[in-house]
Amino acid sequence: KDIKHMKNIAQMLRLYFTIAVDKAFPGLEDFPVAVAPTNNPKFGDYQCNVAPPLFAMLKGKVAGIANPRQIADAIVREFPKSIDVIEKLEIAGPGFINVFLNPEYLIEETRTVFLHGALPAPNPCKKRVIVDMSSPNVAKEMHVGHLRSTIIGEGLARLMEYLGNDVLRLNHVGDWGTQFGMLICLLQEKFSNYLTGNKQLPVSDLQTFYKEAKKRFDEDEDFKKRSYACVVELQSLNPEYLKAWNLICDVSRKEFTKIYERLDIKNLIERGESFYQKRMETIVKELDAKGLLEDDLPEGGGALQGIRKIMHPPDKSLPLIIVKSDGGFTYDTSDMATIKQRVEEERADWIIYVTDAGQATHFYSIYKCAKRAGIWDPTKVRIDHVGFGVVLGEDKKKFKTRSGETVKLADLLDEGIKRAGDKLKEKGRDKEMTQEEFNAAMTSVAYSCIKYSDLSHNRVHEYVFSFDKMLEDKGNTAVYLLYAYTRIKSIARKAGVSLEQLQEYGNKSKITLAHPKELKLMKTILKFPETIEKCAAELVLHPMCELLYDIAVYFSEFYDSCYCIEKDSKTGETKIHMDRLLLCEATANVLKQGFDILAIRPLHRM
Ligand code: ARG
Repeated sequence: KDIKHMKNIAQMLRLYFTIAVDKAFPGLEDFPVAVAPTNNPKFGDYQCNVAPPLFAMLKGKVAGIANPRQIADAIVREFPKSIDVIEKLEIAGPGFINVFLNPEYLIEETRTVFLHGALPAPNPCKKRVIVDMSSPNVAKEMHVGHLRSTIIGEGLARLMEYLGNDVLRLNHVGDWGTQFGMLICLLQEKFSNYLTGNKQLPVSDLQTFYKEAKKRFDEDEDFKKRSYACVVELQSLNPEYLKAWNLICDVSRKEFTKIYERLDIKNLIERGESFYQKRMETIVKELDAKGLLEDDLPEGGGALQGIRKIMHPPDKSLPLIIVKSDGGFTYDTSDMATIKQRVEEERADWIIYVTDAGQATHFYSIYKCAKRAGIWDPTKVRIDHVGFGVVLGEDKKKFKTRSGETVKLADLLDEGIKRAGDKLKEKGRDKEMTQEEFNAAMTSVAYSCIKYSDLSHNRVHEYVFSFDKMLEDKGNTAVYLLYAYTRIKSIARKAGVSLEQLQEYGNKSKITLAHPKELKLMKTILKFPETIEKCAAELVLHPMCELLYDIAVYFSEFYDSCYCIEKDSKTGETKIHMDRLLLCEATANVLKQGFDILAIRPLHRM
């Protein structure tokens, strides 16, 4: 069967305008031609504002051009004729070119979306994309920052997959480093009998264990000494110490896995800092051989005490700490080894790091040094740091529990479920559903809300975590969208029309949709490809959320003004508008595709 994909209308228009500009004014190289959707139907559906800036540039240089309108005229004259997507072009004001879309085109595209779903254009230059995401630290609580990294990382990974790329999700767990010295030391004291055999450590709360170890470390000189010795043993990969380390990591791993399962995070490969131990040794040798490492200031002579070797980025920004005075490696060393591994062994075309914005300077230095060392060629491999703002509580202060502790993610998710359940009960939904359906609704609502409220905010800003806000059923929330979706999906069902019947109809029939609300809805759902383009260009997901919200709003306007099922008051006969049912299903298809990218699971009943 020939499967049709959705076409990117804004992109097509941009192309046509570029061609027209090129023909009307040859020799302009890459003059930027932007085409944007309009807010007012008076100005058509899209507008191209290239004429005024072009005039500013050509003024006095081209004969016969006295104002920007004449530029616009010349562009319109050269615009390719009989393009199916366009009904007409109009010039307004000082030379704005307004584009009115052709309703016939909208209908045919809607038919495509109904029959084939919201499919992307085939991607001939499939890339290998690594998304470095989630990355919590062992023995420390996985906190809301890691939750953001998980949610945003998953959204971007799905976006990249949707676009036909080959995506590798890597969980760069903080599972290596000096803190393991004291953890192992305490483990040897308390649980030495677990160092043989296959029993799991009887520790459920590693944080308490961590605190205990830290206390001992700070108070007991002998413990401290033994802890240091443990680090050395671990880093030289002594099997006995590796065993202890593994027992500790397993406790964390179990906790992390549960969270990922709950949040529907699949294919996330754990490859923590420990994975790079050998490679760190190699890279340090390589950097040293290339003469890139510098000895740090003499003992006590500077700010960087306890450091043996550093590496400077060429622009003298923050140096990387490569080797500490005890010979150990650091977060910086591991990221240098990591970049090399990903470029050389994974053959990545694109690496995306998803962490809090506070790590921007760290990554900046890493890129600069990796480039300086010849490990990374920016013309061959693209790297982006996707930073995000901190999570605040409703009091606008850093998100904490009432007693001032970091909020445990599992508790947070539990609370979400409870609150979602209360909301559903308030509306009496529990009475309309089986227990199983209710549980599904409650969990889906909770997780969707947590994800959506994160993704619908521009990630670079800090964001206020509020269950009350995210669980509202009005406004741009997941609840509103989920309701819209279930409602849309129920319309054809209630009309007694099966999807097969609708499909047969959609394959053969002439479709008529001409009501302004129908047109508005079609134009909105057909913005899906350009929204994807925007998200991918900026590595953000809030434009997708805004689009889904617009779709739900325009759907409800359409549904209020245009009957899908009509009962004749005199004859009592019901009339089913198949064209409108088809538009409903096309809308649902686009919403569903959007949900899939945001990792939100819609419900059939809620
Ligand atoms: N574990 C780190 C943290 O909790 C994040 C790691 C991000 N990835 C990386 N390759 N450095 O902040």
